Amino acid sequence: MELWSSPEDFRRACENVRAGGGRLGLVPTMGALHAGHQALIREARRRSSVVAVSVFVNPTQFAPGEDYERYPRARERDVAACEEAGASIVFAPDAAAMYPPGDETRVLPGPTAAPLCGAHRPGHFEGVATIVAKLLILAGPCIAVFGRKDYQQLTVIRRLVLDLLLPVEVVGMPTVREPDGLALSSRNAYLSPAERDRAAEIPRALADAAHLFARGERNAGALVASCRDRVARIADRIDYVDVAEPESLRVFGSEEDIGARAVLAVALKIGSTRLIDNLVLGED
Ligand code: PAJ
Repeated sequence: MELWSSPEDFRRACENVRAGGGRLGLVPTMGALHAGHQALIREARRRSSVVAVSVFVNPTQFAPGEDYERYPRARERDVAACEEAGASIVFAPDAAAMYPPGDETRVLPGPTAAPLCGAHRPGHFEGVATIVAKLLILAGPCIAVFGRKDYQQLTVIRRLVLDLLLPVEVVGMPTVREPDGLALSSRNAYLSPAERDRAAEIPRALADAAHLFARGERNAGALVASCRDRVARIADRIDYVDVAEPESLRVFGSEEDIGARAVLAVALKIGSTRLIDNLVLGED
């Protein structure tokens, strides 16, 4: 296992892979790795000969007052989890290395970053797009693997890669869930046992809407209401429950018909923990 903290060393390690004829896969993460991250690493390994994982809690994607300081950090366990899943390079820089003194340049995503989480976390996707662009440019991978758990993030990154002409294939992977359906997330560690029980209602609420959809319901308002009513019982705050077009992420109005495929996305708070989840109606 190679463990690098300097961008230059990491760049060189990635160059060596390519020079040796290897096919490099990159899995960007913020650490506190779980089986969801490991599924991405395994898929990257299946599709490439060498997998690099970045572990970096990116300050620019957190707004003031969010959980940047308390975000779980577990370097040694993360390195072991990367190795177990088949990665052989870990890049864990500090913030000053990724944002050098005088840093002022940002990557500004467009309309796909505006609705859903973009409306509730100002600057979040600008921070994500900026760090992902830096990581892709540094590593120069053939493929980069992301989770559909963060559906809007994956959409913004696909757009970023197209728009900046980055020569990388973006792979999106299904959400890995606990046996009761809760999506794995590093933030689940914040939940008390009672909050954890409440969180299990999120996938059930999504599933309710999916059942309605399967029975032929296409009205956006009805699908949203079925999901919202159920999460309202357990949430301390609902940021949004929306259905959106799966590529543009344009949110459907409540009177609209959603057609054959649409993403149903939820963001809410239980206690001080913000959780997100989604389902693609007509696909998942
Ligand atoms: P992080 O939350 O650590 O997630 C890293 C990757 O793991 C993302 O692509 C995310 O979608 C995926 N992931 C998280 N939980 C998952 C689950 N339950 N099933 C499948 N995949 C899952 O997302 C970020 O970090 C950051 O924003 C990052 C892209 C690294 C930029 O800083």
